[in-house]
Amino acid sequence: MSHTPFPYEPYELRGKELRDAVVRYASNPLYLDNEEWENSDNPYRRQLRPQVLAHLDLDRVPGRDELLDYSSLAVQRLLTTVYEADLVFLPKSGLKGQWEDFRRFYSPTNRVLGEMIRPALERYAFGFLDKEVETSGKWTAESLEAYLESLNAHEPAGASLAEQAIANSTDRERAARMWLIQFAPDFLSEASPMIRNVLGYYGAAQSEWFKIIIDEYGYGVHDTKHSKLFERTLESVGLATDVHRYWQYYLNSSLLMNNYFHYLGKNHELFFRYVGALYYTEATLVDFCRRATALLKDVFGDRADTQYFTEHVHIDQHHGRMALEKLIRPLVEEHGEEIIPEIVRGIEEYRRIQDLADEDFATQIGWMDNGPEFKKLHAPVWDAIRSGRVTAPVADIVEPYGELSNTHCHDGDELCHIVSGTMKFVSGFDSHQILEAGEGTVIQRNRLHGAIIESEECVYQIHSVGDYKKCM
Ligand SMILES: [Fe+2]
Ligand SMILES: [Fe+2]
Ligand SMILES: [Fe+2]
Repeated sequence: MSHTPFPYEPYELRGKELRDAVVRYASNPLYLDNEEWENSDNPYRRQLRPQVLAHLDLDRVPGRDELLDYSSLAVQRLLTTVYEADLVFLPKSGLKGQWEDFRRFYSPTNRVLGEMIRPALERYAFGFLDKEVETSGKWTAESLEAYLESLNAHEPAGASLAEQAIANSTDRERAARMWLIQFAPDFLSEASPMIRNVLGYYGAAQSEWFKIIIDEYGYGVHDTKHSKLFERTLESVGLATDVHRYWQYYLNSSLLMNNYFHYLGKNHELFFRYVGALYYTEATLVDFCRRATALLKDVFGDRADTQYFTEHVHIDQHHGRMALEKLIRPLVEEHGEEIIPEIVRGIEEYRRIQDLADEDFATQIGWMDNGPEFKKLHAPVWDAIRSGRVTAPVADIVEPYGELSNTHCHDGDELCHIVSGTMKFVSGFDSHQILEAGEGTVIQRNRLHGAIIESEECVYQIHSVGDYKKCM
């Protein structure tokens, strides 16, 4: 089965039509900028920054080196929102006062507009995997077994870059909270993408798939539902548990990871790919959850409720085995070796995304930890600009008290220079620098950040220097 995932289809939206449709979708009042850093118990509000979308070219497949650029972040935020229109989200404290948002989120128009732009967004978000993953050649049941064996998915692995970044952070609790926040889009509605595959008419394998889902859902006992276990982890370290409270702190790659499973579940032609990705996650989660438990206990001590993770150490040994014995092997038997490249592809794609997410998160922790250093870098870079040694495009901005630039990132390094007033520059959850007149900060390429004005007015400049090291 040779599968070209992203041919352009005749009636697909492209160019200006696509751009207009994206802007129209994201102009729903639910998706406008927030005046606060966090959403408060409103699962329908998510900030998509529609004012910027008209300027993005979403009609292409970005290369690996552009994957953490702003366009990708915008696409991942859009896709999460599109996929989640299929999920039932209710506010923790009830719908009182939120009926209008509820109706806007689930309105047929919102859903249909989302579906219209989804193919193009999926190409933008996942198209890079075509170049990253090669699964051609002749696969047999035997070569598949040898390949799966070679993955050592059940073996203990060393600490990931993300885990090392937390362990070595100058503020380990903050880093660990930022880490848990990244899992919220996935874990608070855990296994929802999987459920997309239990509708239909099918054989025994999908009923095995359903058994895994039953475990994820705690057999209908709400207190043991995996999402509920994760809520307790969040609460134990002082984080809130309402859906997307921390929307503005999700990294590009965290959304990519979560969206990947919705993408596989939403598009049933990718069913076999999902089987591969499911096997690999379930199998590797065992050791990951062991390490996560140890890390959280190390950072927070006994107050960290790690039952979410310890439960997975137990249940996912079982799920990994089930995915192999009751899904992969019987499906190959039933449908033939043609499905193997798709299974392998699911595994390999997931691994690429995992690497990307690992690196992205570790870099963000470095960016947060080094806030004071980036602030100090303002002086030499501003010097280079003022003396004319470096010329860069500049934007002059005036903002009033309380104006909040919702989080975003830039495709190159920038220098923020404060002319007058005070800015609180935010570089991640619970992480900021205060910038006064004459001060500023280097903003590192691809790093998530936002700002709020703390004086009556703030006049500042953004110099797009590209690579700040060239100014040194
Ligand atoms: Fe789970
Ligand atoms: Fe599981
Ligand atoms: Fe910015």
